Amino acid sequence: MKPVEIAKGVYHVGVQDWNIRDFHGYSTERGSSYNAYLIVDDKIVLIDTVKKDFADQLLANISSVVDPKKIDFVISNHTEMDHSGGLARVMHYIGEDKPVFCSKMGHKNLSSHFTQKFNYRPVENGEEISTGKRQFVFLETRMLHWPDSMFTFDKSEGILFSSDAFGQHYAGYEIFDDVVGHAIMPHAKKYFANILLLYAPRILKLADQITEMGLDIRMICPDHGIIWRKEPSKIIDAYVTWSRQIPEKKAVVAYDTMWKSTRTMAEAVSDGIAETGVAVKPIHIRSSDRSEIMTELLDAKAVIIGSPTINNNIFPTVADLLTYVKGFKPKNRIGTAFGSYGWSGEAVKIIRQELEAMGVEIIDQGLRIQYVPDVDAVAQCVDFGRKIGEAVNG
Ligand SMILES: Cc1cc2nc3c(=O)[nH]c(=O)nc-3n(C[C@H](O)[C@H](O)[C@H](O)COP(=O)(O)O)c2cc1C
Ligand SMILES: [Fe+2]
Ligand SMILES: [Fe+2]
Repeated sequence: MKPVEIAKGVYHVGVQDWNIRDFHGYSTERGSSYNAYLIVDDKIVLIDTVKKDFADQLLANISSVVDPKKIDFVISNHTEMDHSGGLARVMHYIGEDKPVFCSKMGHKNLSSHFTQKFNYRPVENGEEISTGKRQFVFLETRMLHWPDSMFTFDKSEGILFSSDAFGQHYAGYEIFDDVVGHAIMPHAKKYFANILLLYAPRILKLADQITEMGLDIRMICPDHGIIWRKEPSKIIDAYVTWSRQIPEKKAVVAYDTMWKSTRTMAEAVSDGIAETGVAVKPIHIRSSDRSEIMTELLDAKAVIIGSPTINNNIFPTVADLLTYVKGFKPKNRIGTAFGSYGWSGEAVKIIRQELEAMGVEIIDQGLRIQYVPDVDAVAQCVDFGRKIGEAVNG
């Protein structure tokens, strides 16, 4: 994709990764993009690079605007390799002595990624830099989502270069919020649920800080997906809402099964939940991606997990999901477990303990059915579901 001038003298020179479907274990059904931005002022600045394999495409994009050798310095908002992988190639091309502005942690982390010693210029939180007509301020955003993460804010134009924050894995020629419309929100939500949820308390603090500083944000340029130019407040407000974790009247019933008994249970449990007016979806874990399930969990009050017992344990895909979800430290959830078993039936207890360990309030000891559920057992599952639904309704 050719560069796009997104504001006067500001060019999107990043690349579209149309084909990626698995981004470090996150399913990216719409591909992704690695956005980099070129600012042409008295000084010429590149903000972030792209994945290593796309570095030549980035240089070609820059070349169609200016000779890359004319770049005066690079700003690295984030060390992760989807944005820094191309740095060595870019520096080699534009001149290895050119300054690379980054946070102090960025300096440390970039030094752990590249053997070459670039001309790093670590900046303080709030430090400013001028490119001539434009004035930029650097804002440290530690752990959003890496220790090195920072924002670069163009004070003159109100453009926030926000690194991974406010991004979405979405490849497309339509690179603005007003072009894609509300259809972008599920992608933004998935990104938040899978990359940022763990840092929700920091996001709330950051939102307060932005208000206190009175930053006039007119455009948000993240490092993935579309640019928020029409309504930047829409994504900031969504981040605040998601970070508060006040779940909706919704339950996720995630399960796996070998011979479909636990599936029968999952569907009957869901029927019972639905009867109480609570939104619910039975999700077969092996047919879904963990990042999809995590997105469903973002605003669900109830986390209901089902597994058959296999070799005195839970099914491996259930363990995968529980491990993944635990990492995000979700707040304000209730939950329980269910599953079919043959003789020893440990799965329900193991899940319950796992949910408890991640701070989920256990509303029931769980439901076990031996082998194939009969009519009575199915009725028991529906009752169990109703009880869950009532707990969600409070
Ligand atoms: C490979 C294998 C190992 C099993 N291990 C156990 C076990 O350790 N304890 C137990 O209670 N049941 C065990 N079972 C029995 C299943 O839990 C039982 O068949 C159950 O109904 C399967 O539920 P599903 O149809 O949802 O897969 C095992 C079944 C299989 C196929
Ligand atoms: Fe990142
Ligand atoms: Fe990223």
